[in-house]
Amino acid sequence: MTVLKVWNIHESELNTDQVLQSLNQIAQALKSGEVIGMPTETVYGLAADATNDEAIQKVFQAKGRPGDNPLIIHIYDISQLDAFVTQIDKKAQRLMDAFWPGPISFILPLKPDVLSEHATVGLNTVAVRMPKHPVARAVLQHADVPIAAPSANTSGRPSPTRAAHVSHDLGDTIYGVIESEISEFGLESTVLDCTSIPFRILRPGAISHKQIETVLNESIQIDDTHSDKPVSPGMKYQHYAPHQQVSVIRDWETIELPKDVGVIAPATVKQYIREDVYFIALCEDEFAYQEAGQNLYHALREMDNSTVNEIYIHGFNKNDDTVALNNRIFRAAGIKS
Ligand code: TXA
Ligand code: MG
Repeated sequence: MTVLKVWNIHESELNTDQVLQSLNQIAQALKSGEVIGMPTETVYGLAADATNDEAIQKVFQAKGRPGDNPLIIHIYDISQLDAFVTQIDKKAQRLMDAFWPGPISFILPLKPDVLSEHATVGLNTVAVRMPKHPVARAVLQHADVPIAAPSANTSGRPSPTRAAHVSHDLGDTIYGVIESEISEFGLESTVLDCTSIPFRILRPGAISHKQIETVLNESIQIDDTHSDKPVSPGMKYQHYAPHQQVSVIRDWETIELPKDVGVIAPATVKQYIREDVYFIALCEDEFAYQEAGQNLYHALREMDNSTVNEIYIHGFNKNDDTVALNNRIFRAAGIKS
Protein backbone atom coordinates (compact mmCIF):
# COMPACT_ATOMS: atom_id res chain seq x y z
CA MET A 1 0.00 0.00 0.00
CA THR A 2 1.28 3.47 -0.82
CA VAL A 3 1.30 6.18 1.82
CA LEU A 4 -0.76 9.13 0.61
CA LYS A 5 1.32 12.30 0.38
CA VAL A 6 -0.56 15.45 1.35
CA TRP A 7 0.61 18.92 0.36
CA ASN A 8 -1.15 21.88 1.88
CA ILE A 9 -1.06 24.71 -0.64
CA HIS A 10 -3.23 27.81 -0.51
CA GLU A 11 -3.54 30.65 -2.98
CA SER A 12 -2.05 33.20 -0.61
CA GLU A 13 1.20 31.26 0.00
CA LEU A 14 2.17 30.42 -3.54
CA ASN A 15 5.47 32.25 -3.54
CA THR A 16 6.96 30.95 -0.31
CA ASP A 17 10.09 28.76 -0.52
CA GLN A 18 8.28 25.88 1.13
CA VAL A 19 5.48 25.92 -1.43
CA LEU A 20 7.91 26.21 -4.33
CA GLN A 21 9.65 23.12 -2.99
CA SER A 22 6.30 21.28 -2.83
CA LEU A 23 5.44 22.38 -6.37
CA ASN A 24 8.76 21.00 -7.64
CA GLN A 25 8.10 17.70 -5.85
CA ILE A 26 4.61 17.52 -7.35
CA ALA A 27 5.91 18.29 -10.84
CA GLN A 28 8.62 15.62 -10.53
CA ALA A 29 6.08 13.05 -9.35
CA LEU A 30 3.72 13.87 -12.24
CA LYS A 31 6.54 13.68 -14.75
CA SER A 32 7.55 10.27 -13.43
CA GLY A 33 4.02 8.95 -13.97
CA GLU A 34 2.36 9.41 -10.57
CA VAL A 35 -1.27 10.58 -10.21
CA ILE A 36 -2.17 13.38 -7.80
CA GLY A 37 -5.39 15.02 -6.56
CA MET A 38 -5.38 18.70 -7.56
CA PRO A 39 -7.74 21.54 -6.61
CA THR A 40 -9.48 23.49 -9.38
CA GLU A 41 -12.23 26.12 -9.26
CA THR A 42 -14.83 23.57 -10.46
CA VAL A 43 -14.01 20.33 -8.62
CA TYR A 44 -10.82 18.53 -7.55
CA GLY A 45 -9.19 16.69 -10.45
CA LEU A 46 -6.98 13.60 -10.57
CA ALA A 47 -3.92 14.90 -12.40
CA ALA A 48 -1.63 12.79 -14.58
CA ASP A 49 0.82 13.42 -17.43
CA ALA A 50 -1.40 13.17 -20.53
CA THR A 51 1.53 12.00 -22.66
CA ASN A 52 2.29 9.03 -20.39
CA ASP A 53 0.25 5.90 -21.09
CA GLU A 54 1.02 4.24 -17.77
CA ALA A 55 0.04 7.32 -15.78
CA ILE A 56 -3.25 7.53 -17.68
CA GLN A 57 -3.97 3.88 -17.02
CA LYS A 58 -3.44 4.53 -13.30
CA VAL A 59 -6.11 7.24 -13.51
CA PHE A 60 -8.68 4.89 -15.07
CA GLN A 61 -7.82 2.19 -12.53
CA ALA A 62 -7.96 4.44 -9.47
CA LYS A 63 -11.38 5.80 -10.45
CA GLY A 64 -12.80 2.53 -11.79
CA ARG A 65 -13.61 4.59 -14.89
CA PRO A 66 -15.03 2.90 -18.02
CA GLY A 67 -12.29 2.73 -20.66
CA ASP A 68 -14.38 4.50 -23.33
CA ASN A 69 -14.77 7.76 -21.39
CA PRO A 70 -12.18 10.35 -22.49
CA LEU A 71 -10.34 12.71 -20.12
CA ILE A 72 -10.10 16.51 -20.17
CA ILE A 73 -6.59 17.83 -20.83
CA HIS A 74 -5.51 20.81 -18.71
CA ILE A 75 -3.11 23.56 -19.81
CA TYR A 76 -1.90 26.83 -18.27
CA ASP A 77 -1.05 28.66 -21.49
CA ILE A 78 -2.63 28.78 -24.92
CA SER A 79 0.75 28.13 -26.58
CA GLN A 80 0.60 24.53 -25.29
CA LEU A 81 -2.34 23.79 -27.61
CA ASP A 82 -0.28 23.68 -30.80
CA ALA A 83 1.42 20.46 -29.75
CA PHE A 84 -1.75 18.36 -29.68
CA VAL A 85 -4.54 20.26 -31.48
CA THR A 86 -4.59 20.48 -35.29
CA GLN A 87 -6.33 23.84 -35.62
CA ILE A 88 -8.26 26.37 -33.59
CA ASP A 89 -11.28 27.76 -35.32
CA LYS A 90 -11.71 31.55 -35.03
CA LYS A 91 -14.93 31.28 -33.04
CA ALA A 92 -13.38 28.85 -30.58
CA GLN A 93 -10.51 31.30 -30.20
CA ARG A 94 -12.97 34.07 -29.30
CA LEU A 95 -14.50 31.89 -26.61
CA MET A 96 -11.06 31.04 -25.22
CA ASP A 97 -10.22 34.75 -25.06
CA ALA A 98 -13.50 35.42 -23.24
CA PHE A 99 -13.63 32.53 -20.75
CA TRP A 100 -10.11 31.14 -20.20
CA PRO A 101 -8.73 30.68 -17.68
CA GLY A 102 -12.04 29.43 -16.29
CA PRO A 103 -14.71 26.72 -15.89
CA ILE A 104 -15.22 25.70 -19.54
CA SER A 105 -13.69 22.89 -21.65
CA PHE A 106 -13.57 23.01 -25.44
CA ILE A 107 -13.64 19.94 -27.70
CA LEU A 108 -11.10 20.52 -30.46
CA PRO A 109 -9.62 18.43 -33.31
CA LEU A 110 -6.82 16.21 -31.97
CA LYS A 111 -3.34 15.99 -33.47
CA PRO A 112 -2.51 12.27 -33.33
CA ASP A 113 0.46 10.61 -31.60
CA VAL A 114 1.21 13.25 -28.98
CA LEU A 115 -1.14 12.42 -26.09
CA SER A 116 -1.71 8.96 -24.66
CA GLU A 117 -4.39 7.21 -26.75
CA HIS A 118 -5.94 6.00 -23.50
CA ALA A 119 -6.57 9.61 -22.45
CA THR A 120 -8.52 10.39 -25.62
CA VAL A 121 -9.87 6.81 -25.97
CA GLY A 122 -8.94 6.70 -29.65
CA LEU A 123 -11.18 9.64 -30.65
CA ASN A 124 -10.03 12.26 -33.17
CA THR A 125 -11.07 15.07 -30.81
CA VAL A 126 -9.83 16.23 -27.42
CA ALA A 127 -11.41 18.19 -24.55
CA VAL A 128 -9.15 20.98 -23.23
CA ARG A 129 -9.47 23.29 -20.24
CA MET A 130 -7.37 26.08 -18.80
CA PRO A 131 -8.35 26.30 -15.12
CA LYS A 132 -8.15 29.59 -13.24
CA HIS A 133 -7.44 28.22 -9.75
CA PRO A 134 -4.00 29.66 -8.88
CA VAL A 135 -2.80 26.41 -7.29
CA ALA A 136 -3.84 24.37 -10.36
CA ARG A 137 -2.13 26.92 -12.58
CA ALA A 138 1.08 26.72 -10.55
CA VAL A 139 1.06 22.91 -10.75
CA LEU A 140 0.45 22.97 -14.52
CA GLN A 141 3.22 25.51 -14.99
CA HIS A 142 5.76 23.56 -12.95
CA ALA A 143 4.91 20.24 -14.64
CA ASP A 144 4.91 21.93 -18.07
CA VAL A 145 3.26 18.96 -19.80
CA PRO A 146 -0.43 18.66 -20.75
CA ILE A 147 -2.18 17.26 -17.68
CA ALA A 148 -5.20 14.96 -17.92
CA ALA A 149 -7.53 15.45 -14.98
CA PRO A 150 -10.93 13.84 -14.58
CA SER A 151 -12.85 14.62 -11.42
CA ALA A 152 -11.00 12.87 -8.57
CA ASN A 153 -13.89 10.71 -7.36
CA THR A 154 -14.63 7.01 -7.67
CA SER A 155 -16.63 6.70 -10.91
CA GLY A 156 -20.34 7.28 -10.36
CA ARG A 157 -19.92 9.06 -6.99
CA PRO A 158 -20.39 12.79 -6.49
CA SER A 159 -17.33 14.76 -7.66
CA PRO A 160 -14.93 16.00 -4.94
CA THR A 161 -15.04 19.63 -3.87
CA ARG A 162 -12.58 19.21 -0.97
CA ALA A 163 -9.28 17.34 -0.59
CA ALA A 164 -10.93 15.13 2.06
CA HIS A 165 -13.37 13.82 -0.58
CA VAL A 166 -10.41 12.82 -2.75
CA SER A 167 -8.62 10.96 0.04
CA HIS A 168 -11.90 9.30 1.05
CA ASP A 169 -12.51 7.91 -2.45
CA LEU A 170 -9.00 7.35 -3.78
CA GLY A 171 -6.59 7.69 -0.83
CA ASP A 172 -5.49 4.04 -0.98
CA THR A 173 -4.61 4.06 -4.66
CA ILE A 174 -3.11 7.44 -5.58
CA TYR A 175 0.30 8.99 -4.86
CA GLY A 176 -0.89 12.18 -3.22
CA VAL A 177 -3.38 15.00 -2.89
CA ILE A 178 -2.97 18.76 -2.74
CA GLU A 179 -5.09 20.19 0.04
CA SER A 180 -6.48 23.65 -0.73
CA GLU A 181 -9.67 25.75 -0.59
CA ILE A 182 -13.16 24.31 -1.16
CA SER A 183 -13.81 24.44 -4.93
CA GLU A 184 -15.41 27.78 -5.81
CA PHE A 185 -18.07 26.53 -8.25
CA GLY A 186 -18.45 22.95 -7.01
CA LEU A 187 -19.85 21.69 -10.35
CA GLU A 188 -17.79 20.41 -13.29
CA SER A 189 -16.89 22.67 -16.22
CA THR A 190 -19.16 23.39 -19.17
CA VAL A 191 -18.14 21.09 -22.05
CA LEU A 192 -18.57 22.73 -25.46
CA ASP A 193 -18.06 20.80 -28.70
CA CYS A 194 -16.34 23.20 -31.12
CA THR A 195 -16.00 20.54 -33.84
CA SER A 196 -19.71 20.54 -34.70
CA ILE A 197 -21.65 23.26 -36.52
CA PRO A 198 -23.21 24.96 -34.69
CA PHE A 199 -21.15 24.49 -31.52
CA ARG A 200 -22.91 22.28 -29.03
CA ILE A 201 -22.99 22.10 -25.22
CA LEU A 202 -22.38 18.49 -24.15
CA ARG A 203 -22.38 19.21 -20.41
CA PRO A 204 -23.81 22.35 -18.77
CA GLY A 205 -21.56 24.16 -16.30
CA ALA A 206 -20.76 27.55 -14.78
CA ILE A 207 -20.42 29.21 -18.20
CA SER A 208 -24.00 29.25 -19.49
CA HIS A 209 -25.22 28.84 -23.06
CA LYS A 210 -26.36 32.48 -23.04
CA GLN A 211 -22.88 33.69 -22.12
CA ILE A 212 -21.44 31.66 -25.00
CA GLU A 213 -24.07 32.91 -27.46
CA THR A 214 -23.42 36.50 -26.39
CA VAL A 215 -19.72 36.19 -27.27
CA LEU A 216 -20.39 34.41 -30.59
CA ASN A 217 -23.42 36.50 -31.45
CA GLU A 218 -25.16 33.39 -32.78
CA SER A 219 -27.13 30.39 -31.51
CA ILE A 220 -25.49 27.23 -30.27
CA GLN A 221 -27.04 23.82 -29.61
CA ILE A 222 -27.61 22.03 -26.36
CA ASP A 223 -27.12 18.30 -26.51
CA ASP A 224 -30.31 16.36 -26.04
CA THR A 225 -29.24 14.00 -23.28
CA HIS A 226 -32.43 11.99 -23.76
CA SER A 227 -31.11 10.58 -27.01
CA ASP A 228 -29.90 6.98 -26.97
CA LYS A 229 -26.49 7.90 -28.30
CA PRO A 230 -24.96 10.56 -26.08
CA VAL A 231 -22.14 12.44 -27.78
CA SER A 232 -20.19 13.06 -24.62
CA PRO A 233 -19.41 9.53 -23.51
CA GLY A 234 -19.36 10.50 -19.84
CA MET A 235 -22.97 11.65 -19.85
CA LYS A 236 -24.38 8.17 -20.44
CA TYR A 237 -23.15 6.84 -17.11
CA GLN A 238 -24.95 7.32 -13.84
CA HIS A 239 -23.41 10.21 -11.98
CA TYR A 240 -23.19 12.16 -8.79
CA ALA A 241 -25.23 9.52 -7.01
CA PRO A 242 -25.31 8.58 -3.34
CA HIS A 243 -26.43 5.00 -2.58
CA GLN A 244 -29.94 5.97 -1.44
CA GLN A 245 -32.86 6.76 -3.71
CA VAL A 246 -33.02 10.49 -4.46
CA SER A 247 -36.22 12.44 -5.27
CA VAL A 248 -36.41 16.04 -6.46
CA ILE A 249 -38.97 18.22 -4.67
CA ARG A 250 -40.24 21.66 -5.66
CA ASP A 251 -43.12 22.20 -3.24
CA TRP A 252 -42.10 21.59 0.39
CA GLU A 253 -45.21 23.02 2.06
CA THR A 254 -47.48 20.17 1.08
CA ILE A 255 -45.11 17.21 0.95
CA GLU A 256 -45.57 14.28 3.36
CA LEU A 257 -42.11 13.30 4.59
CA PRO A 258 -41.61 9.59 5.18
CA LYS A 259 -39.64 8.24 8.16
CA ASP A 260 -35.83 8.17 7.86
CA VAL A 261 -35.75 10.62 4.97
CA GLY A 262 -32.94 13.17 4.65
CA VAL A 263 -33.57 16.62 3.15
CA ILE A 264 -31.13 18.79 1.17
CA ALA A 265 -32.64 22.23 0.53
CA PRO A 266 -32.16 25.99 1.00
CA ALA A 267 -32.19 27.05 4.68
CA THR A 268 -35.53 28.82 4.14
CA VAL A 269 -37.18 25.41 3.60
CA LYS A 270 -36.33 24.21 7.12
CA GLN A 271 -39.55 25.74 8.56
CA TYR A 272 -41.59 23.11 6.66
CA ILE A 273 -39.49 20.12 7.78
CA ARG A 274 -40.21 17.96 10.87
CA GLU A 275 -37.69 18.18 13.71
CA ASP A 276 -36.71 14.50 13.46
CA VAL A 277 -35.66 14.81 9.81
CA TYR A 278 -31.92 15.08 8.97
CA PHE A 279 -31.75 18.44 7.20
CA ILE A 280 -28.72 19.80 5.31
CA ALA A 281 -28.91 23.46 4.30
CA LEU A 282 -27.60 23.72 0.76
CA CYS A 283 -27.61 27.53 0.66
CA GLU A 284 -29.21 30.57 2.23
CA ASP A 285 -32.33 30.74 0.05
CA GLU A 286 -33.74 29.44 -3.24
CA PHE A 287 -31.91 32.11 -5.23
CA ALA A 288 -28.40 31.45 -3.85
CA TYR A 289 -27.46 29.28 -6.84
CA GLN A 290 -23.70 29.69 -6.64
CA GLU A 291 -23.66 28.69 -2.96
CA ALA A 292 -25.92 25.73 -3.77
CA GLY A 293 -23.53 24.56 -6.51
CA GLN A 294 -20.58 24.86 -4.19
CA ASN A 295 -22.23 22.75 -1.47
CA LEU A 296 -24.20 20.19 -3.50
CA TYR A 297 -21.66 17.35 -3.73
CA HIS A 298 -20.59 17.73 -0.10
CA ALA A 299 -24.24 17.52 0.96
CA LEU A 300 -24.80 14.38 -1.15
CA ARG A 301 -21.70 12.82 0.39
CA GLU A 302 -22.88 13.68 3.93
CA MET A 303 -26.23 12.02 3.21
CA ASP A 304 -24.46 9.03 1.69
CA ASN A 305 -22.55 8.55 4.97
CA SER A 306 -25.67 8.97 7.13
CA THR A 307 -28.31 6.44 8.13
CA VAL A 308 -31.16 7.98 6.12
CA ASN A 309 -32.98 5.60 3.75
CA GLU A 310 -34.01 8.10 1.18
CA ILE A 311 -33.05 11.63 0.11
CA TYR A 312 -35.34 14.51 -0.88
CA ILE A 313 -33.54 17.35 -2.61
CA HIS A 314 -34.68 20.79 -3.70
CA GLY A 315 -35.27 21.40 -7.42
CA PHE A 316 -34.44 24.99 -8.33
CA ASN A 317 -36.47 27.29 -10.57
CA LYS A 318 -35.54 26.89 -14.20
CA ASN A 319 -33.41 29.73 -15.59
CA ASP A 320 -30.06 30.29 -17.29
CA ASP A 321 -28.20 30.25 -13.95
CA THR A 322 -29.70 26.98 -12.69
CA VAL A 323 -29.23 24.73 -15.74
CA ALA A 324 -26.00 23.11 -14.49
CA LEU A 325 -27.20 22.92 -10.86
CA ASN A 326 -30.53 21.26 -11.77
CA ASN A 327 -28.76 18.97 -14.26
CA ARG A 328 -26.59 17.53 -11.45
CA ILE A 329 -29.51 17.36 -9.01
CA PHE A 330 -31.70 15.47 -11.50
CA ARG A 331 -28.84 13.17 -12.42
CA ALA A 332 -28.25 12.35 -8.75
CA ALA A 333 -31.92 11.30 -8.79
CA GLY A 334 -31.28 9.17 -11.89
CA ILE A 335 -33.32 11.47 -14.13
CA LYS A 336 -31.69 13.02 -17.19
CA SER A 337 -32.70 16.67 -17.31
O1 TXA B 1 -14.49 20.77 -14.23
C1 TXA B 1 -14.02 19.81 -14.83
O2 TXA B 1 -14.17 19.65 -16.06
C2 TXA B 1 -13.26 18.77 -14.02
C3 TXA B 1 -11.98 19.43 -13.49
C4 TXA B 1 -11.09 18.48 -12.73
O3 TXA B 1 -11.30 20.04 -14.56
N1 TXA B 1 -12.99 17.60 -14.78
C5 TXA B 1 -13.99 16.74 -15.13
O4 TXA B 1 -13.56 15.64 -15.87
O5 TXA B 1 -15.15 16.90 -14.85
P1 TXA B 1 -14.45 14.32 -16.06
O6 TXA B 1 -13.51 13.34 -16.67
O7 TXA B 1 -15.08 13.95 -14.80
O8 TXA B 1 -15.49 14.73 -17.16
C6 TXA B 1 -15.09 14.92 -18.52
C7 TXA B 1 -16.29 14.93 -19.42
C8 TXA B 1 -16.87 13.54 -19.59
O9 TXA B 1 -18.28 13.64 -19.63
C9 TXA B 1 -16.29 13.11 -20.94
O10 TXA B 1 -17.08 12.15 -21.59
C10 TXA B 1 -16.28 14.43 -21.69
O11 TXA B 1 -15.87 15.37 -20.73
N2 TXA B 1 -15.27 14.42 -22.80
C11 TXA B 1 -13.92 14.41 -22.71
N3 TXA B 1 -13.35 14.36 -23.92
C12 TXA B 1 -14.35 14.36 -24.83
C13 TXA B 1 -14.42 14.34 -26.26
N4 TXA B 1 -13.33 14.30 -27.01
N5 TXA B 1 -15.66 14.35 -26.83
C14 TXA B 1 -16.78 14.41 -26.07
N6 TXA B 1 -16.79 14.44 -24.72
C15 TXA B 1 -15.60 14.41 -24.10
MG1 MG C 1 -16.34 13.12 -13.48
